[in-house]
Amino acid sequence: RTGSGGSPAVEDPLRSLAEEIGSCRRCPLAEGRTKAVPGEGPARAEILLVGEGPGREEDRTGRPFVGRAGSVLDRCLEEAGIERSRVFITNVVKCRPPENRRPKRKEVEACRIYLDAQIELLQPRTVILMGNAAARAVLDVEGIGELRGRVIRGRFLVTFHPAAVLRNGNLREAFIADLRRGRGMAEGGAP
Ligand code: URA
Repeated sequence: RTGSGGSPAVEDPLRSLAEEIGSCRRCPLAEGRTKAVPGEGPARAEILLVGEGPGREEDRTGRPFVGRAGSVLDRCLEEAGIERSRVFITNVVKCRPPENRRPKRKEVEACRIYLDAQIELLQPRTVILMGNAAARAVLDVEGIGELRGRVIRGRFLVTFHPAAVLRNGNLREAFIADLRRGRGMAEGGAP
C-alpha cells in the first residue's frame, strides 16, 4: 500500500490522538476511569477491530482486550491466522463504563470523534465490528443475529463480541470464520 504505511504521517497523529484520549473529559465516563484505553496497533494495520468498551483489566492497564474476553480474542485471532501485533484494536468508548454496563448513547456520541479519527487515519481495508455496540455506533444498525457474517459498505464486517463467544462456545467457529474472512478481505480478496 502506498502512502501511509507506518510512516510518521500516520504514526504521529495516532499518538497525539491517544494522548488526547488520555486526558479526555467529553463525557462522565472520564470520572470513573483509571486509564483511558485509546487502542493499540501499528499505523500500517490493514485490519481494525472494534469492541464495546474497556473492562476492568483494560481500565487498569490502559490496553484493549487484555482480560478474559481478550484471551478468547487472542486464541481466535491465532486460529484465524491473524497476528495480533499486526492489527489495530480499539473500542467504541475509550473509558470503562461503571460495572461494565453498556455505554450510553451520549457516551458513544461524545467518544465517536475518536473512533472516526482512527478509521480516517488508519484507512483500514477491513473494519471488524465485534458485537452490537460496535455495529450500532459505526453503522447505525442493530441485531447481531442477522448481521453477523455480513459485509457492509465493502469493508465493514459484523461479528460477535469475544465476550459472547466466552459465554457461548457454540459461537466460536463462526467468530473464527468471520475473522478469517476479514483477513481475506484485508489481503485483497473478495468479501
Ligand atoms: N471488551 C471490550 O469490548 N473491549 C475491551 O477492550 C475488553 C473487553
